[in-house]
Amino acid sequence: MRILIIGSGGREHAILWSLVKTTRHSLKFYCAPGNAGIAQLARCIAIPVTDIAALAEFATTEMIDLTFVGPEAPLAAGIVDEFERRGLTIVGPSWAAARLEASKSFAKQFMSRHGIPTARFKLASSAAEAVDILARGEFGPPDTPVVVKADGLAGGKGVVVARSRSAAQEAVHEIMEGGLIDRQAAEQILIEEALRGREVSLLLFSDGLNYSIMPAARDHKRIGEGDTGPNTGGMGAITDNSVLDAGLLARIIRGVVEPTLSGAAAEGFPFRGVLFIGLMLTSDGPRVLEYNVRFGDPETQAILVRLQTDLAEIFFAMARRTLADIKLEWTNESSACVVLASGGYPGKYESGAVIMGLNECADEDRVQIFHAGTARSSSGEWITAGGRVLGVTATGEDLAQALARDYRLISKVHWQGMQYRRDIGSFLSEPPTVSNE
Ligand code: AMP
Ligand code: GLY
Repeated sequence: MRILIIGSGGREHAILWSLVKTTRHSLKFYCAPGNAGIAQLARCIAIPVTDIAALAEFATTEMIDLTFVGPEAPLAAGIVDEFERRGLTIVGPSWAAARLEASKSFAKQFMSRHGIPTARFKLASSAAEAVDILARGEFGPPDTPVVVKADGLAGGKGVVVARSRSAAQEAVHEIMEGGLIDRQAAEQILIEEALRGREVSLLLFSDGLNYSIMPAARDHKRIGEGDTGPNTGGMGAITDNSVLDAGLLARIIRGVVEPTLSGAAAEGFPFRGVLFIGLMLTSDGPRVLEYNVRFGDPETQAILVRLQTDLAEIFFAMARRTLADIKLEWTNESSACVVLASGGYPGKYESGAVIMGLNECADEDRVQIFHAGTARSSSGEWITAGGRVLGVTATGEDLAQALARDYRLISKVHWQGMQYRRDIGSFLSEPPTVSNE
């Protein structure tokens, strides 16, 4: 059997590593376009993730049995619909279902239709309209924090949690007129009430009918320790029993997961793939911040190191809509992924630095190094080739043990300009968790 994974980051490396580790079948792996770390596990094919026609041609001529999509861009562009039109087996949400991530206004209106708790919002189609909404004071007095979001996919740059009304007005102009974000993505803008609480990432597999929840995760979005500085794609993530207790999970399943999946099915786009629900646990209960229609990065690295079930079987069950027939098993551990990034990231970063120490620590017990942005130099050395370079990911009996394993390994790896957070897993100034009545 042949499996094709689409994507090139730490997430895709973790997916391939997990497939290789858990499967009992004889499988051949391909990855488009992949990266230098992934090339140790799969044949990498130089096709960009958004060249859907070329990917479908490849899957046809190479007789790929199943394709799994990592990133959101090809999903939002309809890769699943196109593969299915050609009779190819692919696991991921359709174009219609991918709107839950690709259009924040679609997602908010969907949540309103199905009574799914989320932050209060207003939609504007021009900067003037957005500024006017803010000026009317609907989101509180001038010193109230407000959130401004571009409607479409903006690679993490489309959301500003503004400290005040005037900062929000600036953000409106920056998003709609600043030129940083794709014009189409910023045609509409959302103004949202700023929620306070603890953030949780809840991911699940769904075959369109049935679903299976993964261990809940938390991630660190900002570059600096103590959650300071600009947002990044994610500087680390953890899973641990303390993230969500059983009562709160049950409440989220009842109030969010089930209405989301049944709402999608009722509207004619049953959700098949990995759904990532970003939640804020507020003192008024859980609220959905966003949907992602894919595995998170770096949440996936921290989650999949605990998976014991054959991931290929999970993917095939999702394709055949038989997810209900398999029981997913996870180790009863904690896990942590610490991201090592290039100097300058998340701004303009340096590439091509020689990574020292990587080969020496390849066999550390219960620590995996997932490659996000690496390449090989002409003389075979590992070099940096991206903002986020490596995701060092460990399991442990508790979070402290997992983190200690990560940081012990990290002390042996180095390159010029390497940066990482030393406080992954500690979440400062958290408001109290909500009760779960
Ligand atoms: P999103 O892409 O919508 O998840 O937003 C990115 C990040 O912005 C989230 O992970 C939160 O940290 C923050 N955020 C988004 N919406 C809100 C909100 N309504 N209140 C507070 N923080 C938010
Ligand atoms: N870590 C957040 C995301 O993948 O969107």
